[in-house]
Amino acid sequence: MSRVFRDGLFAGKVAFFTGGTSGIALRIAEVFAELGATVVLNGRKQDKLDAAVAGIAARGGKAAGFACDVRDYGAIAGALARTRETYGPIDFLFCAAAGNFPAPVLGMSANGFKAVVDIDLLGTFNTCRAAHEHLSKPGAVVINISANHGHQAYPLQAHVCAAKAGVDLLTKTLAMEWGPHGIRVNGIAPGPIDDTEGMRRLAPTGADRQRVIGMIPAGRMGTRDDVAQLAVFLCSDAASFLTGAIYRCDGGQALTGPRALAQLEHTSS
Ligand code: COA
Repeated sequence: MSRVFRDGLFAGKVAFFTGGTSGIALRIAEVFAELGATVVLNGRKQDKLDAAVAGIAARGGKAAGFACDVRDYGAIAGALARTRETYGPIDFLFCAAAGNFPAPVLGMSANGFKAVVDIDLLGTFNTCRAAHEHLSKPGAVVINISANHGHQAYPLQAHVCAAKAGVDLLTKTLAMEWGPHGIRVNGIAPGPIDDTEGMRRLAPTGADRQRVIGMIPAGRMGTRDDVAQLAVFLCSDAASFLTGAIYRCDGGQALTGPRALAQLEHTSS
């Protein structure tokens, strides 16, 4: 990754990541660790958590992990409390745990819809609600990861669209309520990002992939580093006046309407 941020930018800072064992959140955690932060990862599966923590530690980063499900308020509250006890107040909170499977509404049970809404929306609420008492005040930054699905409809993604729209308005509401506490709350809405579980489940290959890329104004798929760079900026002092906004990181894909990503989902179902 070409780096525009100085070494040690986040030295002494503590960052907590839900959904931190893979994909976008793991890459953000790796970059924050490279910049000096202590990163604490949360995920459901202990083996993935152990591998992610070991990977960061092997490159000289300070990392720890707590396994739990963000749908369980008591469990995520416990993980946040232990983080604060061990490492001190939390400076950066990333809510990135997310669920997904492509299915039309008529092919989705009520429980399937609920599973995704609970992971994405309730999980983000649980994490933010439980974290508040452990955040550095003033100065903490909360970043909730949503998707272009938060402001556009996509076929086969009703559960994700509903959940992400909720996440985005939760983000904006928290920014209003917590601004006076010295906490900034923003959202990042990634578009099609390579090397993520979501795209492994949704994305086509070969000629279909090239056709989809042709509909992205930037002319390429995003990388996890694209999102990590934005996250670094939003957590830096350079962004100290930025709160209550959702930042798209999508190469302009949202401008083309839902066709580009819908194409991905149709071709993979
Ligand atoms: N199509 C339709 N329904 C599906 C499905 C699919 N591909 N995958 C799961 N479901 C349904 C299940 O059938 C179940 O509903 P039911 O009880 O009516 O049968 C419901 O979703 C819950 O599934 P379950 O496996 O019990 O729960 P879970 O808590 O593990 O959640 C996922 C399932 C799929 C939501 C979750 O495991 C997940 O999202 N994993 C992938 C993570 C991922 O891709 N992250 C990146 C997001 S961009």
